Amino acid sequence: MKHIAIFATGGGSNAQKIIEHFENHDAAKVSLIISNKKNAGVLDIAAAKNIPTLIINREEFYQTEDILQKLDTFHIDFIVLAGFLWLMPTYLVKSYANKVVNIHPALLPKYGGKGMYGMNVHRAVHAAQEEESGMTIHYVNEHYDEGTIIFQAKCTLQITDSPEDIAKKVLQLEHQHYPKVIESVILEI
Ligand code: GRF
Repeated sequence: MKHIAIFATGGGSNAQKIIEHFENHDAAKVSLIISNKKNAGVLDIAAAKNIPTLIINREEFYQTEDILQKLDTFHIDFIVLAGFLWLMPTYLVKSYANKVVNIHPALLPKYGGKGMYGMNVHRAVHAAQEEESGMTIHYVNEHYDEGTIIFQAKCTLQITDSPEDIAKKVLQLEHQHYPKVIESVILEI
């Protein structure tokens, strides 16, 4: 059994889909939810599913390597970022080489990098009058949105789509694909 830790800051809709996907799975399960926000929606989801949670603070995350021990306690093999905005520190990327994945709500390498998150991405796509957008699942390194791309899915945009409409289309793609892509990557490690 592989143990997954999900790092999430926000509402956690992707985290929820991933948790549900691996419920009763015989090869992997979500064993820990980590957040940097005490009131993150994802913590309510974790509580409802009886999954242990860990709140981290910036100083501990960047100035110590304490989290490695905590991940070890829960036998974590694989890390999934789902709406987690802090850059991964080098020690963590090295300890989990090719075992950290992220999802980005655009077709990287376009609309990536620092500051390109959440609605900022969809507003930029809208302003550029793109005819399509989508989502990218990629390995994580020490730079924002630069790790090797694992999978992308696209959606067509209409000229009348608002940034909010684009966000909805992209989130739907994320929910559809992220759990399955995680599963296929985990089955290879
Ligand atoms: C998603 O759009 C994801 O691509 C981005 O943050 C958002 C998280 O949404 N990295 P949720 O918290 O899973 O609902």
